[in-house]
Amino acid sequence: MSRILVTGGAGFIGSNFVRFILDRYPDYRIVNLDKLTYAGNLENLSGLEKNPHHSFIQGDICDADLVGRILEKGADVIVNFAAETHVDRSILQSADFVRTNVLGTLNLLEQARKYKVARLLQVSTDEVYGSLGPSGAFTELSPIAPNSPYAASKASADLLVRSYCKTHGFPGIITRCSNNYGPYQFPEKLIPLLISNAMAGLPLPIYGDGLNVRDWIYVRDHCAALDAVLHRGRDGEVYNVGAKQEIPNIQVARRILESLGKDENLITYVEDRPGHDRRYAIDSTKMESQLGWHAEILFEAGLRATVEWYRSNSSWMEHVRNGEYLTYYDRMYGQRQRTLAER
Ligand code: NAD
Ligand code: DAU
Repeated sequence: MSRILVTGGAGFIGSNFVRFILDRYPDYRIVNLDKLTYAGNLENLSGLEKNPHHSFIQGDICDADLVGRILEKGADVIVNFAAETHVDRSILQSADFVRTNVLGTLNLLEQARKYKVARLLQVSTDEVYGSLGPSGAFTELSPIAPNSPYAASKASADLLVRSYCKTHGFPGIITRCSNNYGPYQFPEKLIPLLISNAMAGLPLPIYGDGLNVRDWIYVRDHCAALDAVLHRGRDGEVYNVGAKQEIPNIQVARRILESLGKDENLITYVEDRPGHDRRYAIDSTKMESQLGWHAEILFEAGLRATVEWYRSNSSWMEHVRNGEYLTYYDRMYGQRQRTLAER
């Protein structure tokens, strides 16, 4: 278990996970494979450049040769975060979602089989279950009913992992987590977008009536859940991960404005997202009873810490907003600069 291939580790959850693991298991070695799409940001990994237990490779999980070469050198397990992740983008342009999320996962499965990796942890989402009415929560036995192209691509990947477990006896595990928030989240997602806009005195766009509900989990709690599954989970199983912190979007906006001392007039209702899932809620009983994990951070405390992080890391946000983060690799590793279009 001590040599981990993390894919998508320059993104939001992946980079938090890399830090979490290096902190908790100082003797582990992580190879971090990330394509550095617009969502990949090496500033999320700042401070790790010289860490001998972490090495970064810019590359695509769809690249069979590259993934094979990495595994040939030795990796006990793969934790797959790499994905196109933004629902709104998947509505406008779905092809990249199928390519990375479905074909990329298929390639990892194939290479993992070939090089006899001991475990592949597929980091999936509660969105594969679709939308809930006003009551109830998703369990691992809820039907798969994705509503967006993003969710459909993640569900397809989950089904491929499942099929490899059943057909080939492959050591795969799937986790399905609810909405994460915390440091290093790209500001296209609700919470960092609202914090960033509120700090700049810009309007806070709220889709539809603002009453869609998400079940928020602080990213560190998700990382701890993945750690538990990686070390104590059972092959072929699915584990739901959530923190039981259901909040309508409009309340999220109000709390952010309140914590920044900004006026509610900044809230601006905008056109709804097509196919907008009304409510998510996760039942994590299986994680709690079988793996002894439970979420520790309540939304109020997590949001306070998150707002504080964005406040005291304003240069991170500035670099994302002005595109400077795209040249961090070149500045750190001395290579030629790539333009946004080349990415
Ligand atoms: P993110 O968009 O912040 O990061 C995704 C990372 O994957 C980026 O660094 C990107 O460069 C990389 N990537 C994209 N395509 C790639 C490819 N073809 N090859 C290699 N790397 C590639 O995403 P996130 O929010 O950190 O989500 C990580 C994973 O967790 C995803 O699989 C997502 O579906 C899942 N998930 C996210 C949430 C959430 O609330 N953010 C909740 C549950 C599950
Ligand atoms: O549930 C897990 C999923 O959570 C992950 O699998 C996805 O990768 C992640 O993007 C997230 O999906 P959502 O669509 O729930 O997250 P998003 O931050 O895009 O939106 C959260 C809610 O806020 C949703 O109801 C839409 C709404 N919203 C979003 C944006 C960007 C707004 O009202 N205004 C906005 O500007």
